[in-house]
This record gives sequence, C-alpha cells and structure tokens, in this order.
Amino acid sequence: MPPTHDAPSTDTPPTSPTFSRRAVVAGAGAAVIGAGLLVAGCSSDSGSGGGSGGGSGGGPGSGSGSAGGTLGPATDVPVGSAKIYGDQGVVVTQPTAGTYAGFSTRCPHQGCQVNEVEGANIICPCHGSTFALDGAVEQGPARTGLTAKAVTVSNGQIVLG
Ligand code: FES
Repeated sequence: MPPTHDAPSTDTPPTSPTFSRRAVVAGAGAAVIGAGLLVAGCSSDSGSGGGSGGGSGGGPGSGSGSAGGTLGPATDVPVGSAKIYGDQGVVVTQPTAGTYAGFSTRCPHQGCQVNEVEGANIICPCHGSTFALDGAVEQGPARTGLTAKAVTVSNGQIVLG
C-alpha cells in the first residue's frame, strides 16, 4: 500500500529521444534518489522494527539439533515426566521406567520452543499448548503433536538418532 507522504509525482525522468543521454541518466538518478528517500522515510515512520518477539523463553526458529549427539545420562529423565535439552532442540520423555521417547522442542503451533515440563505435561510458553509424554496435544492452540525424534540409550547415555 502506498505511503501517505507527499511524494513528488511530476519529476519523472525525461524519456524523449531529443534529450541527450546524459540528461536521461541524470534524471533517472534523481528518481532513484527520490525513491531511496521515500523508502527511508517510511521505514523511520514504522519504528525500528523487531521488539515484538513472543515473550520470554523460546522464540521461533532456534534450535535444530544434530543426529548422533549425546544428550546426557538417561537418569536425568524422570520416570513419568520429561527433560528438555534446549541446545539440541530435543525433549526426551520416560513415560514408564526404561522406556524413552524423543521429540522436537519445536511447537507445531507457531514454532516456539517448548521449554517447560510440569509432571507429565510439556508446555509451550508462547500460547500455552501442552503436550503429553507421547508428544500428543493435550491442550491447544496446537492441533498436532510434537515431531518425534529418534533417541536411544547407550551405556546409560541418551543418544540422538
Ligand atoms: Fe506453541 Fe503457539 S507456538 S502454543
């Protein structure tokens, strides 16, 4: 949508073939400079941008995790609960003793990182979605569950992949 500035509308570059090439180039340059000023003015009108991130904790887009990494001791994951490995973007659950499951920490709603576990609930800080230990949605607004990520336990350590 066009800005409401008083943009000059009559200084279009001359295009008649009777003008010299130099005059045409100079005219085009003036038009470009004018456009630049117009853009700069608009961007300053709209503030400095940013500053609207989704609260504290996990913003969208961070955390990717890499396959094959060691997350930590399996004993760090409580039975009937979960542990979040934020740096790796993985949440590991242990619904029953000795049974582990891994999921991406990326919330399927709008991409925030789940960052809290309360009992058997994995919680997204952005809009309050909660997920069960099997990754399924317990409470929206998310409509789909967390994405599974393969984890294995090797020598008492939880390993990605
Ligand atoms: Fe997680 Fe909206 S991004 S609830």
